[in-house]
Amino acid sequence: MRIDPKSNTAIDNYKLLTNLVVPRPIAWVTSQNDAGVVNLAPFSFFNAVGSNPLYLLISVGRNDDGSTKDTANNISASGEFVVNMVTEDVLAAMNVSAADFPADESELLAAGLHMAASEKIAVPRVAESQASMECKLHSAQALGAYTIFVGEVVMFHVADHLLGERMHVNGFAPIGRLGSPSYYCRTTDRFNLPRLAYATWRDGAG
Ligand SMILES: Cc1cc2nc3c(=O)[nH]c(=O)nc-3n(C[C@H](O)[C@H](O)[C@H](O)COP(=O)(O)O)c2cc1C
Repeated sequence: MRIDPKSNTAIDNYKLLTNLVVPRPIAWVTSQNDAGVVNLAPFSFFNAVGSNPLYLLISVGRNDDGSTKDTANNISASGEFVVNMVTEDVLAAMNVSAADFPADESELLAAGLHMAASEKIAVPRVAESQASMECKLHSAQALGAYTIFVGEVVMFHVADHLLGERMHVNGFAPIGRLGSPSYYCRTTDRFNLPRLAYATWRDGAG
């Protein structure tokens, strides 16, 4: 079936896009307002987009009433945020943090989580997260109702048990976001597919 997004409602287009572009990684973002309240919310319009320097981006939409989300307000004002990764052990807390808490109430504390100090930025990370990346805002770009925040990763925090030799990360299984209404997947079903040199493929060894 061919579907022209121009003849669809915005909600149907959202459903198509977010059910087709799957699985998406989840950035569990800590940010902080002027009063020091630490905000926590998940964002699956998220990816790594550069490695030298290290860049990642999140895309933050608006609340149903059209107001900007706390995460966007905080990053715009402070220029800092932390991307914490979500594994199965913190999934319930991630779901709590996605609720529409008022700006003066911390989702992190409400979800029973703890903060750990960051090293290069003021915004703390989630102590329970197996991996976190401290980010300084590189740039922000308005994109329709969304704002893309590009962050430069200035510090990694990785649980000791995940790190092998030469920076290999082993046994890390972050949760992926699937489509609506609220499907997720595990990333424990893995296989290895070594890349081919052209000559290997041409000679039929692949
Ligand atoms: C798994 C998951 C992924 C989400 N991804 C996004 C996203 O990419 N962009 C967005 O604007 N909202 C996303 N949301 C919704 C926000 O998390 C939600 O609006 C949250 O309340 C925003 O919090 P804040 O106002 O504290 O920033 C997602 C929700 C969930 C549960």
